[in-house]
Amino acid sequence: MELDTDIQTVAKGGFHCVLCDVSVPNQASLEDHLKGRKHQKLCSVRESRRAQEEHSVFVSGFQRGTSQQQLTDYFQRFGPVAEIIMDKDQGVYAIVQFGDKESLQGALAQPQHSMEGQRLRVKPREKKEFKYTPKKKQDVGKNPLNPELLCQVATVAEQMQRVVEVSELPESERRVRELLVAMLQEVFTEFFPECKILPFGSSVNSFGIRSCDLDLFLDLENTKSFQARAKSTAEQAGEGQSEDARSEDSILSDIDLATASPAEVLELVAAVLRRCVPGAHKVQVVSSARLPVVKFSHRELALQGDISINNRLAVRNTRFLQLCSALDNRLRPLVYTVRHWAKQKQLAGNPFGGGPLLNNYALTLLVIFYLQNRDPHVLPAVRLFKQMASKEEECVIEGWDCSFPSSPLAVPPSQNTEELGSLLAGFFSFYGQFDFAGSVISLREGRALPITDFLSVEEQQEAKEKEKKEEDEKEKEAAGGGSSPKVSPRLGPLNVLDPFELCHNVAGNLNERTQKSFLRECADAAKYCRSLQYQRKSAKGKVWGLVRLFSPRGRGQGAAEAERELVIDIPFKLVVLPESMRGQLRDAGDGFRQLWFGKVCRAVERVFREILKCDVTEGAEEEEDEERREEEKQAGAGDGPEAVNTAEWDPSATPVGPTEATEGRRKEQETNNNDCPQTAVSPKTCKTLKRPRLSREGTTSISPITKKQRLALGDRQSVTTWHGHVWHKVWAGRRKVRRDLLRTLQEHDRPEGGSVELETQVTERIATLEQEGEGVAVGGTAILEFALQARVLGATEDTKTELCFFPGEDTCGLFQDFFHFLESFLPRMTEKLLERAE
Ligand code: UTP
Repeated sequence: MELDTDIQTVAKGGFHCVLCDVSVPNQASLEDHLKGRKHQKLCSVRESRRAQEEHSVFVSGFQRGTSQQQLTDYFQRFGPVAEIIMDKDQGVYAIVQFGDKESLQGALAQPQHSMEGQRLRVKPREKKEFKYTPKKKQDVGKNPLNPELLCQVATVAEQMQRVVEVSELPESERRVRELLVAMLQEVFTEFFPECKILPFGSSVNSFGIRSCDLDLFLDLENTKSFQARAKSTAEQAGEGQSEDARSEDSILSDIDLATASPAEVLELVAAVLRRCVPGAHKVQVVSSARLPVVKFSHRELALQGDISINNRLAVRNTRFLQLCSALDNRLRPLVYTVRHWAKQKQLAGNPFGGGPLLNNYALTLLVIFYLQNRDPHVLPAVRLFKQMASKEEECVIEGWDCSFPSSPLAVPPSQNTEELGSLLAGFFSFYGQFDFAGSVISLREGRALPITDFLSVEEQQEAKEKEKKEEDEKEKEAAGGGSSPKVSPRLGPLNVLDPFELCHNVAGNLNERTQKSFLRECADAAKYCRSLQYQRKSAKGKVWGLVRLFSPRGRGQGAAEAERELVIDIPFKLVVLPESMRGQLRDAGDGFRQLWFGKVCRAVERVFREILKCDVTEGAEEEEDEERREEEKQAGAGDGPEAVNTAEWDPSATPVGPTEATEGRRKEQETNNNDCPQTAVSPKTCKTLKRPRLSREGTTSISPITKKQRLALGDRQSVTTWHGHVWHKVWAGRRKVRRDLLRTLQEHDRPEGGSVELETQVTERIATLEQEGEGVAVGGTAILEFALQARVLGATEDTKTELCFFPGEDTCGLFQDFFHFLESFLPRMTEKLLERAE
């Protein structure tokens, strides 16, 4: 039993069993719980899962269609095989469970495995933390992405995996679709001999969700040849028509596929669906779509389908998406997460196919393009795939080169090791500042091309058009006619070229408004992803991570709101102030708030600098920020609450220690400080103030306030910002250190309990312990960076200083602990310093 990790003490008292997700009020109940059936059962399930994991390997790279028996035969050479679990559907991987550990080690020790000429990848099985999900919570009804479930897991990456688990097309639905396709194949073959029904799109591209559409391509190429053959045989025999083509059931007697228009063929397809496919209803030909289709529903299976007759490219790009997902297992969670986010933000999911929103295919391509642009890349540019394809894998459709390898093994693995949570955050930053107006996204090249290249493209492409005219004609015939391919993409506010059909902008339907929303939502999401609420599970059970990201558009739960929670208030309390200060405040009249605020700011600074030994540098906005703000204001973007803290926080900047330079700058600023500002604060000034930025050179980039800013702010003291570095875990074990310190000091040396002196000594002791290696050693690097903004709020009777924190990069997840400590410590110490301020 893993009592240490399973049982947590609860702040309010009592215990929580993480394994069973049960809270109990005291030790006695805890013991009962641990002996109880539920806990015992889950312990034993966990044990057996672990044993399975420890005896299993993950195998990929075998040929599609490989059977369990073939795998058993192969792996039995290493020892007894207890079970094989196969991903039958995709034929992509299998889990091989051995009867004992020796056999497993034997299999893993073998440097190379090959079966039927294919190189197998054999890896130890990923160890997954066992999680119990109570039945009632699994029943998530219409909202499978239950926020409660998402909040239960430990990391954003796990949340993303959870998104996949609850959204993906369930195995049962997949099977049903296969059966329906098989049935349609049978029926259509009756009417269109030798035809093929090929599924494409979300049902098979590995990104399908529950109840997604079933997209089908009816390939009539062979049927045309069949008809032509039959015709010529009949002519030779002088009979006009062959038996087959004349048969009463044969639709081919009504139509010549070589000359019929797509609309005519689709009408026949619709007729077959209506009359001969059990369960098919609401059958309708939609000829106005970019690619005309027959739409239908299936009553019993409760699904909608589309059948098209000229969509060979879609079948090929579906294969391409399958390849991409097999190449990197981060793609699926990213795509599912981005799709869900986009839906919530009303950026994707045109209700009836058309419309001004992004379609799922375009969104998926946007994710792939982003992954092509990571450094190192996660996925290569599409043109590079061609070089990896064998002769047999070369493929040209409608004149477009669609060559890529069929096996992921032909593609060198990516060197990129970024974890899912930061890749997702990167997606939003990437598109939040993307120059959509000036570029065309090219997955083929793996980079954005200047839009100007496409404006004079006609001439260059005329040559190309000529070249492939012959091929096009052939394809046009095969597809039953249709318009010849347009050579230049239809440019719009957002341009994403299809990876193969290079003249097709898959986001060509988007309007300006949707593009702007996409950009803005990405920028907001990027901002939120920099906050602790995204990065770390809330210890208080608050929503965190993806849950806030998924809040529907319009609920205002963006980054600003998340960050606003990192706020500590210092209320104005006249009684704690020394008599001399009360006199000053009285004399200041209406300006008392500003005077008090100035003193609070100085006290806060001293708490950080003198008591907590942090390095804090007072700063103001940079001029360029000010200009940007001005621009935003003109563009109508700077007025709302979202305008708070929009400056870039560059987490990659190297933190600096307390240097002479920063110390010097601090002194200079102190001299310049006006303790008694005169101008009242304007709420708007507060709202639009931005967080200080860190420069890439690694020094703080807080420049002295400019004249222009002073004019704009009216009063620099109405809002004060600092940039800080924390050098030690000054909050950790503080109570114990304090107790030990008091014990060791002689009575006459002992500072007063809770005093500034005592707390200063406690910090010094923590720092010494850390340096001596007894605490958590931190060396010469700051363990945390933060920015802090103070402003004075409220009317005379409820005046307060609001301190708003902005954490920097916090890979160890320390900031939340630091902040919790500050919540009580900072107001207390500030008050102590104010008490004695002269
Ligand atoms: P969808 O955009 O419908 O994507 O395109 P989806 O993944 O099937 O999502 P659902 O159906 O909304 O759940 C379906 C397929 O159509 C082809 C692609 O093969 C895509 O997978 N397609 C779509 C194109 O080839 N070009 C396009 O511009 C759009």
